[in-house]
Amino acid sequence: MDIIWHSKSKQFHLYNDKISYIMGVTPLGDLGSIYFGSLIHDKEDMSYVVNRFMLSNVVVDPDTESYSMELNRQEYPCFGTTDFGTQAYEVEISNGSRVSSFVYRDHKIFKGKSALKGLPATYADEDEAMTLEVCLDDEVARMSLTLSYTIFDKYPVIARHAVFTNNGPSEAKLTKALSACIDLPDQDYEWMQFSGAWARERIPEIKKLTSGSVSIESKRGISSANQNPFVIVKRPGTDDFIGEAIGMSFVYSGNFVAQAECDTFGRLRLLMGINPDRFCWPLKQGESFETPEVVIAHTDEGLNNLSQTYHDLYNNNLIRGKWKNTPRPILINNWEATFMDFDEKSILKIAEKARDAGVELFVLDDGWFGARNDDTAGLGDWVENPDKLPQGMAGLSRKVNALGMKFGFWIEPEMVNPDSNLYRRHPEWALATPGRKSSLGRHQLVLDFSREEVVDYIYGMLKKVIENAEISYIKWDMNRSLTEVYNANLPAIEQGTIYHRYIMGVYSLYEKLRKDFPEILFESCSSGGNRYDAGMLYYAPQAWCSDNTDAIDRIRIQYGTSFGYPISSIGAHVSAVPNQQTGRSVSISTRADVAYFGTFGYELDLNKISNEEFEEVKKQISFMKEHRELIQFGTFYRLRSPFEKDEASWIVVSKDKKKAIVGFYSMKSKVNQIPGFVKLAGLKEDYKYVIRDEEYYGDELMNMGLTLGKYYINSFIARQEYVSFVEVLEAK
Ligand code: DGJ
Repeated sequence: MDIIWHSKSKQFHLYNDKISYIMGVTPLGDLGSIYFGSLIHDKEDMSYVVNRFMLSNVVVDPDTESYSMELNRQEYPCFGTTDFGTQAYEVEISNGSRVSSFVYRDHKIFKGKSALKGLPATYADEDEAMTLEVCLDDEVARMSLTLSYTIFDKYPVIARHAVFTNNGPSEAKLTKALSACIDLPDQDYEWMQFSGAWARERIPEIKKLTSGSVSIESKRGISSANQNPFVIVKRPGTDDFIGEAIGMSFVYSGNFVAQAECDTFGRLRLLMGINPDRFCWPLKQGESFETPEVVIAHTDEGLNNLSQTYHDLYNNNLIRGKWKNTPRPILINNWEATFMDFDEKSILKIAEKARDAGVELFVLDDGWFGARNDDTAGLGDWVENPDKLPQGMAGLSRKVNALGMKFGFWIEPEMVNPDSNLYRRHPEWALATPGRKSSLGRHQLVLDFSREEVVDYIYGMLKKVIENAEISYIKWDMNRSLTEVYNANLPAIEQGTIYHRYIMGVYSLYEKLRKDFPEILFESCSSGGNRYDAGMLYYAPQAWCSDNTDAIDRIRIQYGTSFGYPISSIGAHVSAVPNQQTGRSVSISTRADVAYFGTFGYELDLNKISNEEFEEVKKQISFMKEHRELIQFGTFYRLRSPFEKDEASWIVVSKDKKKAIVGFYSMKSKVNQIPGFVKLAGLKEDYKYVIRDEEYYGDELMNMGLTLGKYYINSFIARQEYVSFVEVLEAK
């Protein structure tokens, strides 16, 4: 890994063993893109890529007379001069002009990576990464811009963000400030996005790119289940095993946009950042705005390889603290078992049975506080309900601990019910626009987390509950989109800052609680997977993947999630049947076979299952205890897509390739068919792997495949639906 500055040609080359990222100062003084892709040799001067010819209808710079941005690829394109593509940023200065021109001043290259202020971001030690900061000035606007690029030693990854500073006496307005742009020289790519809605999150969709734009966005104040802030562009032949692809992952949890724009000269522009819609950030003299980070990854070995890059990078250089690379506790959550209808006695009954099965952590979900007996009341009143918990959280947590289990609980700190003491005392703390009705989502309003006093108040209340009890885990929920966004304390000119300030408020509360209680494992949640993004992983190493706990639907959801996020982050539980969301009944072994490939837990009352099933649950828990480290932190490969056939398969392989665990799922009943094979991946060709006393060579399993007949033909004969198997492979 190195970052080379060629002072004569004014070009930068960032490279490691796998990738090269090359750019240079253009004849206009701004930054132009030269190359991003697999590693290539360094050269002193690659300015031959600069196009300096005239084409009809092209406008050129008056000083150079032959240089047009339109004919050249940009690093961070501006508005108003000779580039007519989508700009990465836009600044309005005091005279109303939005034309910009930032020109190279100097740069800094250093080992490691600096933190972003108040924002989540990847981090790195000095031997893990190098950073380049290029400083540019716009003399007319009296502003400076720093473009930051970090290259990681071990990963084919560049992390980017930008910082704008107003140096002049007049106030300027930043009306758009994306985090990164990549201009690529051709358009022979397909666009892949991960879309859905509540209970059907992160379903992969592929589109062919043609001239014009494809974009996805969120304007909900959360990253959302509808569009995930992670996209891929891939060559048409690229699949999980072969081919070139580029990923862009936004380390941010609020409004975003991701866009691919094909111009009519055959080039592709990729953009990602805070959604400029509803964004406007005024900058007074001396003030700066720092964009969140985009993590750009490259592969020429297929999408599994791209996903593995994100998995490893996020496990090693995004997730922090005690739970970094630590196998996750097997938990039981009472939500689907009791909803809000519980008391200490009924909770302890569930906990005792779970303890007997070997569960390690009990999670008390919604309903323990204020007048919270249904979802119409109580949010905001973070004080235990004495009718349900006579000795408070302190009493219950001690009793659960005495059973030999850890204890955690649910919060939804960003919300308030109009029927709550908090709202009666502070109606002005909810987001509301003067003169307008406030829309309700699940009978609740959103607290204005852009206001420090609101965040501080909620922090105080939560801190008290946590301090008084023995708490090992917190599930942080968020159950509605933001509407009527307005902050009565801010002047008109600052109303465009609120969405971003809101999420900064969320991050600040997370950070305060993490600092006070570094041992606590946080799990993020937003009506299931409405805020499943890399930003959240910086604070909460795992995320409740979806409220849809149906094992068959979960195969698709977890499969889609695995493209951008590590298996260690995927909150996955075995729940009761018939499933609450789909009405489908799936055997307890198939339910566990799916949930193993995540953090693993239960979301049902184990007192209510048969003795046989309970015995099976005990075995499932000891299986997961034995194998969770490999499953959550090994190398994960998607083998068979649930979107192509009615079968799915995946495998996770240890870093030394000596052990692997394969999961296979049949998603439909099948009659009179020959089972075939599933080709495994990631094994060592000449290792002999033992599966249930039978030996197979690695190359045999990867090229011929694992015969499905041996493992699931019996299920055909038994005429069962939704059969699955999970097999352990161990090298001799
Ligand atoms: C939505 C979450 O996704 C569920 O798991 C549960 O915690 C409920 N909220 C509680 O209200």
